Amino acid sequence: MQPEHSPLPEAAIFLEASKRRMSIWRWADYFDSVPDAVQITLGEGDTPLVRSKQIGARVGLNNLYFKLESCNPTGSYKDRFAATAISHMVAEGSYECVACSSGNTGSALAAYCAAVPNMRCRLAIVEPAPDGKLRQMLAYGADVFRVRGFGLDFQVTKDVFDGLERLGSLPGAAFQISAFKWCPKGISGVQTISCELAEQSDRPIDHVFCPAGGGGLMLAVARGFRLLEQRGVISKTPAIECVQPEGNDTTAGPLREGAKVAHPCETSTTISGLQVGTVNDGDEVIRECRPTGGTGHLVRDEDVWEAQAQLAVEEGIFCEPAGAVALAGALKANTDRELDRDAVVVCLVTGIGFKDEPSIDRMNSKRECGMVEFKEFATAVQGG
Ligand SMILES: Cc1ncc(COP(=O)(O)O)c(C=O)c1O
Repeated sequence: MQPEHSPLPEAAIFLEASKRRMSIWRWADYFDSVPDAVQITLGEGDTPLVRSKQIGARVGLNNLYFKLESCNPTGSYKDRFAATAISHMVAEGSYECVACSSGNTGSALAAYCAAVPNMRCRLAIVEPAPDGKLRQMLAYGADVFRVRGFGLDFQVTKDVFDGLERLGSLPGAAFQISAFKWCPKGISGVQTISCELAEQSDRPIDHVFCPAGGGGLMLAVARGFRLLEQRGVISKTPAIECVQPEGNDTTAGPLREGAKVAHPCETSTTISGLQVGTVNDGDEVIRECRPTGGTGHLVRDEDVWEAQAQLAVEEGIFCEPAGAVALAGALKANTDRELDRDAVVVCLVTGIGFKDEPSIDRMNSKRECGMVEFKEFATAVQGG
């Protein structure tokens, strides 16, 4: 028998608590949600917001923060998308997930499909996807295909999107891609990043630096903040800053130059996840972000690798190159004197380091792990 003072059976209390913690579903009023019974979760969201330990002080940014989306269950912010997208599929009775990805979306969808009995996951992956991401998708049991030229050749990429849209409209199937243009329900789950930031930050945030490939992430962050402002939860939406590699300038350049629309480009960046030459959510990103006071920032791949190494060595944050793009953009803006030194600046660290082995080798190119006798180790330690 329940004690009189307990309003809920214990299991229900834990259920309530688990919904409040460690899941995007506690923000169900802030995105396109589904009924409680079909809310799938692997504990995504509630990622840490940590203050910079060294980089901020070194470059003169007094309030630099990192939002560690790399802490999500499959290692990237895409879990917020996948949790929402697959829950909608269950709600609609669709059990054949057909998707394309540069890697992280595929890993996230593969994991969330694995968590739903009888849900199939078929993935068309860009040709240059890192092995670590492919191995992760395979481990979750998805059907994975790398498509020749996809992500490298503009026409092939466009044809893949068109073909997948057709396959996703077959009975029982659904096409999933983390972009508002095609999957507004699923990607709306990424708006929960803004809810968490509003909750986690003691002071109003002035700038949120976001990496952009197709632009879905940024658009979700901007829309999440707009909703919070409209509902009176925050007084002002931060400037949402768009950072892209120079070799994939669909949106950042046009946003900075005052253009109304994004433009397609031939991709030459090596940054996995940001090789998106088509304009997916770019036009909407420009429309939504310009009124926030945010602008575009273009960074070289070399700057991104440098930022990735700085995050590891100076902050203890291990991310993939795309996860360091926001910091590379903030550092450039700071060098160009576009940031107030006391501004509250948040950089989204969008993906974990483990999946992109070549980028780890690059960071470690001057370090080695020697095989020694223990006495040599002891001598090295005593030698200082
Ligand atoms: C780690 C990481 N960061 C950022 C992005 C960019 O997201 P979007 O294409 O929504 O702009 C991606 C996309 O795959 C990604 O994997």
